Amino acid sequence: MRIGGKHRRTVWLAEDGRTVLTFDQTRLPHELPVLTLERLADSTHAIRAMKVRGAPLIGAVAAYGVALAMRADPSDAALDEACATLGATRPTAVNLRWALERMRTVLAPLAPGEREARAYAEAAAICEEDVAVNRAIGERGLPLIEAAARRKRRGEPVNILTHCNAGWLATIDWGTATAPIYLAHRAGIAVHVWVDETRPRNQGAAITAFELGQEGVPHTVIADNAGGHLMRRGMVDLCLVGTDRVAANGDVANKIGTYLKALAAFDNGVPFYVALPSSTIDWRLADGSAIPIEERAGEELALVSGRTRDGRIETVRITPDGSPCGNWAFDVTPARLVTAFVTERGVCRASEAGLLSLYPERAAA
Ligand code: MRU
Repeated sequence: MRIGGKHRRTVWLAEDGRTVLTFDQTRLPHELPVLTLERLADSTHAIRAMKVRGAPLIGAVAAYGVALAMRADPSDAALDEACATLGATRPTAVNLRWALERMRTVLAPLAPGEREARAYAEAAAICEEDVAVNRAIGERGLPLIEAAARRKRRGEPVNILTHCNAGWLATIDWGTATAPIYLAHRAGIAVHVWVDETRPRNQGAAITAFELGQEGVPHTVIADNAGGHLMRRGMVDLCLVGTDRVAANGDVANKIGTYLKALAAFDNGVPFYVALPSSTIDWRLADGSAIPIEERAGEELALVSGRTRDGRIETVRITPDGSPCGNWAFDVTPARLVTAFVTERGVCRASEAGLLSLYPERAAA
C-alpha cells in the first residue's frame, strides 16, 4: 500500500541482496524510519521490541532472521540456534512458529553450503505468498462489505469497526482485516472505519489510522471503550479484526480488548468477522484455552509517548509512581461470538467443521 503516494511493502532487500530492510514501527504515526537487519540478533531484537509486529510480519521477519543466520554460519547448530532464539521472541502469534518450521523443513536436509541461498529464497517466497494471500482475503471479504452497502441508504457509508492493526504494516502488503476495506474503497463503495485506539501500545491510533489516512480511507479514531456505545446506537455495520492464532475449534486470540468488542457485537446483532491467512490457524490446539497469552512490561501501560508542539517525541508517565500495572497483550474470543472467518480460500463458520470445509486436507493430518 502507499506511503506518501508511493507503493511500499514492509520487507525488502538492500542492493547487496542480503541485508534485510523493514520499517521501525515504534515511532508511528510521526516517523517511520527504515530499519536495517544485518544479523540474526537484529531480527530477534526487532521482533521482541515490536519494531516489527503483527502476526504475518513477525513470521516473515523471522524467516529472514534465519536467512541472516545462515549467511553468518550455515551449520546445523546455527540453524537450531536461530530457530530457538527467534521462536522465543513473542509467544502468541503462531505465524512465527509456522514460518520457522517451514524454514527448518526446507533447510535442514541441505548441505550447509546450500543453505544461505535457499534460506533467502524461502523467506522471499513467504513474503510473496503473504501478499497473494492477503489480496485473496480482500477478494473473499469484499462481498461482505458489498452486502452491507446494499443495506445502507444511498450515500451512507458502511461503518466498519476494527481493533489493533491488522493492516498492511502487520503483513507484507494489503493487511488481513484491511484488505477487504481497501478493495471496497477502491471499488467506490463508501466505507468509514471506526479505529479502536488499542491501548496500551495504540496500534489502532498510531498505525491503522496512519495506514488508512495514507490510502484516503475515511476513518475516525475512537477510545477503546467507545465501541459498545456505538454499536447500541446502530453506528457500526460490522466488525472486522485480525488474529494472532486461531485454535482448531475456531477460538480466536487477538489483541487485548477484542473479546469485549465481540461481546458487544453479539449483544447488538452486529456481525463480527475475523480475517486470517491459514498460517494463523493452529491445528494442534483443540481450543483457545491453551493459547499462550503474552504478558508485557507494565511500563507500556504506565508510559505514553507522543509528539510535542515543537516536534520532539516525548514519553510521560500517566500512573502514580509505585502503582503496579498488569499488561496482558492478547485475549481469546470464543468461536461462538464470531460470525464468520474470512480466509484466503473463502468465508466459513468459526468452527472446526467450518475451517475443515475450507482446508479439507487438514482432516487427514
Ligand atoms: O502486538 P501486535 O501489535 O503484534 O498485535 C497485532 C495484532 O493483534 C493484530 O491484530 C494481529 O496480529 C493480526 S495482524 C494481521
